[in-house]
Amino acid sequence: MTRRRRVTRPLASRRRLAVALCAALALLLAACGEEDTAADPAPADPVTTDAAGTTAATATDAAATTEAGTDAAGTDAELSLIAEGQLLVGSDVAFEPFEFIEDGENKGFDIDLMNEIGERLGLQVEFVNTPFDGIFTALAGGQFDAIISAITITEERQETIAFSDPYFAANQALAVAAGSDIASVDDLAEGVSVGVQSGTTGEEYATGEFSAAEIVSFPTSEAAFSALEGDQIDAVFIDLPVVGARVEGTDTVELAEEVDTDELYGIGLPQDSEALRDAINAELEAIITDGTYEEIYSTWFEGDVPEQFQ
Ligand code: ARG
Repeated sequence: MTRRRRVTRPLASRRRLAVALCAALALLLAACGEEDTAADPAPADPVTTDAAGTTAATATDAAATTEAGTDAAGTDAELSLIAEGQLLVGSDVAFEPFEFIEDGENKGFDIDLMNEIGERLGLQVEFVNTPFDGIFTALAGGQFDAIISAITITEERQETIAFSDPYFAANQALAVAAGSDIASVDDLAEGVSVGVQSGTTGEEYATGEFSAAEIVSFPTSEAAFSALEGDQIDAVFIDLPVVGARVEGTDTVELAEEVDTDELYGIGLPQDSEALRDAINAELEAIITDGTYEEIYSTWFEGDVPEQFQ
């Protein structure tokens, strides 16, 4: 059965803006870097002590001078990056409060975390907005160095990509229109339609568990919420923190029930990217232990940082 818990809510309501897909940029950048990706595994001994300066010298941004990159980064060649000095990161930037566009800028917990990791590695983080349903294929096909997108670590996904250590814990939730008769997943009877985002763990769970209801897949979470507000569907099933953010910005949508799925988010990486994974994991650990994680967390969420990330 399901458990109800306090909702992790974002601090302030934020306006959602339409997301412009940077497909042309993605293609261009992917084309530039094709030759040194999937087919070219990292050397067995990627972490050397003499290499950090090289990375810093080639990076085009001011962040290249951070000291933290020296212990784990190694050279760009060892990290097998698509472009020197840069971390090309795919993300479906439409999942507030993790990644969303406001005033033309990428914002959110994942964005802050990834930028912090990049800065510590002396790498310029370049986000490429990309549809979630296809993000794993794009990564495995060599289009990105990494993906961050509130991505749940699953065994199935690990068949085609690798993950960093977990950086966030989340459940799923059922959202309904204000005043709906649906109070919990037990009310998802025949004739009820539930919106999900295509390619997500929420879609998979809903398809498996809500067998009486009709599951309707949308390309983005926002498309599902809009359909809910437009009365085209009866509920939305998606990651709880996203429901928290959406509920806060409006009085038309409300949380019906939290569903305990115990998911952990990770940064997605190509399977042959041990050096990059080690470097990212080292920075992630430092970010957690030195208090930076808490700083970023409290920008986007209320309440204490969960114990495993303290
Ligand atoms: N955590 C869910 C999953 O991994 C949903 C992620 C959706 N992320 C996004 N940026 N749209 O399937």
